[in-house]
Amino acid sequence: MCGIIGYAGFRDARTVLLESLKRLDYRGYDSAGVAIIDKKLKVYKEVGEIANVERLIPKIKGTTGIGHTRWATHGGVTKENAHPHVSCDKKIAIVHNGIIENFSKLKEELKKKGHTFLSQTDSEVIAHLIDDAYKGNLEDAVVAAVKKIQGSYSIVAVSEDEPEKIVGVRKESPLVIGVGDSENFLASDITAFLKYTKRVIFLNDGELCVLTKNTINVVDKNRKSIKKKEELITWNVKDAEKSGFAHFMLKEIYEQPDTVHHVLRGRISEIEETITFPENVEKLLSNEINSVHIVACGTSFYAGLVGKYLIEQLTNIPVFVELASEYRYFGVRNESSLVIAITQSGETADTLAALREAQMSGCKTLVVTNVIGSTATRISDGYILQQSGPEIGVAATKTFTSQIIVLFLIALKIALLQKKLGSNELYNYIFHLKELPRHVRDVLERSNDIIAIAKHLKDAKSVFFIGRGINYPLSLEGALKLKEISYIHAEGFAAGELKHGPFALLTKDTPVVAIVTQDETYEKILANIGEIKARGSTVIAIAEDKDTEIENHADFVLRFPASSHVLPCIAITVVLQLLAYHVAHLRKCPIDKPRNLAKSVTVE
Ligand code: F6R
Repeated sequence: MCGIIGYAGFRDARTVLLESLKRLDYRGYDSAGVAIIDKKLKVYKEVGEIANVERLIPKIKGTTGIGHTRWATHGGVTKENAHPHVSCDKKIAIVHNGIIENFSKLKEELKKKGHTFLSQTDSEVIAHLIDDAYKGNLEDAVVAAVKKIQGSYSIVAVSEDEPEKIVGVRKESPLVIGVGDSENFLASDITAFLKYTKRVIFLNDGELCVLTKNTINVVDKNRKSIKKKEELITWNVKDAEKSGFAHFMLKEIYEQPDTVHHVLRGRISEIEETITFPENVEKLLSNEINSVHIVACGTSFYAGLVGKYLIEQLTNIPVFVELASEYRYFGVRNESSLVIAITQSGETADTLAALREAQMSGCKTLVVTNVIGSTATRISDGYILQQSGPEIGVAATKTFTSQIIVLFLIALKIALLQKKLGSNELYNYIFHLKELPRHVRDVLERSNDIIAIAKHLKDAKSVFFIGRGINYPLSLEGALKLKEISYIHAEGFAAGELKHGPFALLTKDTPVVAIVTQDETYEKILANIGEIKARGSTVIAIAEDKDTEIENHADFVLRFPASSHVLPCIAITVVLQLLAYHVAHLRKCPIDKPRNLAKSVTVE
């Protein structure tokens, strides 16, 4: 959840660290701090925005340092609890992301040895453990410290006595090296150093690295030196900037004509009449699969629910969608089922644990992710990249639509392999898939209609979203988007379920957003709208352009184009995203950084 940056180079570390922290700000953001070695180790930290820390730091000269943005887990939001944490003699500083499970016991032991603690965090024990073991070599001391720690961590440490060196180590929490010329970086996210380099080395669990401005040494958990592969990232700095949009979320919503195109590119071919994935993924999909289990959290979980409808419809294979936080402890593991983990970041702790659990039970695992080199890609049997570019806004948008498309391509591929899909049908699907970017653009061009409706929702205390079939998970996602960025209570329901309880909450002041598609559920959802109207509530329908009947039923109608029945859910999702965005904007909410939320949930 927290963001980490380390720098060893020739530039002014103050500028590099602050710049990187600002880029990491979306990850975790209740406090921040830096430690810079300028002859002496100097630490500056503060609660609130990075600018609060920036104001504290004088123009100092150091070219080695570490920085951190915190999302509180242990200990409240205070200056003392902000990172970096330091040893008693203030010569060693660390930043940490993760949770140290045995920190109370370690703290007591260290206190008995005379260590004084200044914070309530679990992380501070790391600085004291390193100090306790320090005999002039920082990596030796870090190795000794992590041997005593139980839990998850990525740690970056510096010592005043070795002023050109930064040491990093990871277990179940991300850490990636940025390789520069006469400078090197170490961060929780690539975006932290993207401005300076696109050359990266991903660290695996248990690996430790020592960086100076000219050297990178990586060792495994037995301290055997390992040669790591350097990779080149295709994202560019512009992708990680707002480019004139008021918020990252809005920019990312508007990127969807491109991201929808990118996720399809190279994977669909009418000429060869096929869907193409990397060889190992195709092998996984061609196995005898008797069921699919999808594991994910939050919005990715809802993408999984959409995927269930798509895969079952085309393949007849039963699909079970499980919250990763539940699956990791409960549920049936079946060796002949394929487990698909969906995780935009590739670093969500519960999803990674569910993946490991599935593998230990002998299941084959496939990951759908947006981040190349993320932990999920490295612990699975195969992965499919969403190719959406970095998503900075905390609320997932463009990655949700690309996850749905990947799941649809998986469904098509399995159906082809099972010979359940003829070439004419595939041609038809591909033809309509290619129209999706145009449909998204079409919705974006109608944003004024959505703003007008947002005005009706902005003062609501509670909003219901309803849908049937594949529109049911979309209603869950629509409600999640609204609640997380506008702070209005919102719930998504399968429309048929309203009378089994939720109706008790419905009053004339509860607007209902109904997703209406002209399929086999059309008459039913119109009947549900009638039941809602009978209770005096306002109904906002999201309906197809060609639906002329809906106006007789709903109070307001937001339109989307659907020239076919191939993934209308993509255009509908964009309507839901814009609706949530504009309601939150009218309410002047901090859209890119909703309270209490962080982009990447790397702790359980
Ligand atoms: C909501 C949102 C979250 C994430 C969830 C899983 O807008 O973004 O619910 O979907 O934290 O994240 P990933 O996909 O990175 O595993």
